[in-house]
Order: sequence, then structure tokens, then C-alpha cells
Amino acid sequence: MLEKVQELYNEVEATSIGNEESLENFRMKYISRKSVIADLFADFKNVPNDQKKAFGQELNKLKELAESKFKDAVIVLEEAKLATEGADIDLTLPIIPHVLGTRHPISVVREEIVSIFRRIGFNLSEGPEIEDDWHNFSALNFPPNHPAREMQDTFFIEKNPDIALRTHTSSVQVRVMENSQPPIRTLSPGRVYRNEAISARAHCVFHQVEGLYIDKNVSFADLKETLYYFVKELFGSDTKIRFRPSFFPFTEPSAEIDISCHLCKGSGCKVCKHSGWVEIGGAGMVDPNVLKSSGIDPEVYSGFAFGMGIERIAMLKYQINDLRLFTENDIRFLRQFKSI
Ligand code: DAH
Repeated sequence: MLEKVQELYNEVEATSIGNEESLENFRMKYISRKSVIADLFADFKNVPNDQKKAFGQELNKLKELAESKFKDAVIVLEEAKLATEGADIDLTLPIIPHVLGTRHPISVVREEIVSIFRRIGFNLSEGPEIEDDWHNFSALNFPPNHPAREMQDTFFIEKNPDIALRTHTSSVQVRVMENSQPPIRTLSPGRVYRNEAISARAHCVFHQVEGLYIDKNVSFADLKETLYYFVKELFGSDTKIRFRPSFFPFTEPSAEIDISCHLCKGSGCKVCKHSGWVEIGGAGMVDPNVLKSSGIDPEVYSGFAFGMGIERIAMLKYQINDLRLFTENDIRFLRQFKSI
């Protein structure tokens, strides 16, 4: 029987498979359940015990040879088939379109704001989201006992009252002034954190963009013109702007920035609570104390600063009525920004 196996081994080795027909013949003869090799396996029980080992080894070798020869032949024939069929590919078939993702509305609005200010000479600057008391509060003229430093507003890090998640991007102002000399024209977009309960109107994580302009003889009129240009670019040329007196520790005088409601064009609607105006941020002339703290001489230089919420602007621009939509990753919401 051992000779029979060896005979078959030589036979398999010598067989050439050149087409589908010879492949099928080979399969029937050596691979299928009724093949000569399968018969030999069935006869295994009749082999004398002392020959079982040698016979088994030879038989397995034969089986492996037949199987690998068969597999190789399948691949070779398949490739040959594809090569000849390739000539028949229909080049007029429409392509399968790529499904493009969408940009997040916050990114869309941030990019738009940045590009508007870039056109009038503002560069970009960044600061850390984990900030120290100096950059987030002290250098910005917050008195030591200011309520904004307290736990309900600020996330402190590991019980160290000196380190916190920044509560506004105004901290970047200080870093820029510390590291450069006027003229400074910079825009600082970024994520900010406040210890607030999440609702349709408030979130503990959101985005702001901070603007800073420091030079000789910068006045409130420059601030007004700059922001007027900005809101007309972003919301349309018929947009009006107004400044309401306000207070921030880091600016004097300070103002709240309102724009005419672009939905009702000032005539009154739900979005503007029938006032015709909506608030978009805060602004003012940089307080001389802040300039001094950051190494800039207030006797020589003056400047303005402003800060706006990016979510707030996106909500006004796209009539989004719930802040939570920005972070829920609902694909039906995000897909709506496809063409932007
Ligand atoms: N930092 C302020 C806030 O988070 C916004 C702000 C107001 C920034 C006035 C400014 C500014 O630069 O001048 O509410």
C-alpha cells in the first residue's frame, strides 16, 4: 500500500492543470470525498499496526501535495480569467459616489469668524485649557474675592486653587501680551469650561473667540468700527450693532455687544424676545491694570478686546434652539451642515 501512495505522489506531481476541465478532473480524482486519496484514508484501518506510522506520514504528504496543487491552480486560473475578462470592463458605468462627511457647525462658524478677522490683519493665538489663576483671573484685574473664582463657576484641578480649567479665552490675551510687544492684533478661539448644569441654554463646555488689538492711539471708535465690519460680514450688510454699557474687570469702559435680530430684521420675534436685538458678546478698552500686569506700558499703548461665544453665534446664524445639539453627535443634526 505504501507503494501505491508513492505512485500517486509521483502522479500528482506530474499532473499539469491548464484549464477548468483539468482542474475539475483533478478535484474529482484527488480532492473530493470519493477521491483515490479519500479511499486510502478509509483503508487506513487495514494497515498492519507496525506500518501505520510510515503509511500515515506518506498519506498525509500526498494529501497536502494534492491540496496545495489544487489551490495554486485555482488562483492561477482565476487570474487568467480576470486578465482576459478585463478587456470587457464597461468604462461608461457611473462611478460609485464617495459619501462625504460634514464639518461640525462649531468648526464652520469658528473658521468663518477667523477668516473675517484675518482679512483685517488679525493673526491667531492659542493658550492652554488648563490655566493658572494668574492668566485666568489675577492678571485680568479680577479682585481676590471676585465671585467668578468660586467653585460654582470654575472647575479647579485636584484641589489646587491655583490651577483651573479656563473659564474664558481672555486668558490668552494675557499670554500674548506677556510674550510680544505692540502692535498686537490677535484672535484666540478655543474651548472654555464653567461649572454649570447642562440645559438648552447653558453647558459646562463651550467655545469662545477672543479678540485683542493693542497699539498707540487705539480708541473705542476703532473697537466699534472693527466689530461693525465683523457683524456685517457674518450676518449680512444690513446688520446693525449697538453697545450697551456693562462691566468686566479687565476692560474700562466695558460694553455688551448687541446686533439687530437678523431673523425679524429688528421688528421683533421669539429669538430676540421681541426686542429686535440679540446679544453676541462683550467688549471694551483693555484696563490699564491689565496692560501693566502683562508687561505693556499703558502710558504709551492702549487697546480694545472683545469676547464672543461661538455656540451663541452658531445658534443665531442657523436658528438652533438647544445648546445640547452641538455635543450630542446626532447624525441627523450634523448632516444638515453638508453643503457648508
Ligand atoms: N471674558 C468674557 C466672558 O467670558 C467676555 C469678554 C468680555 C471678553 C469683554 C473680552 C471683553 O475681551 O473685553 O464673559
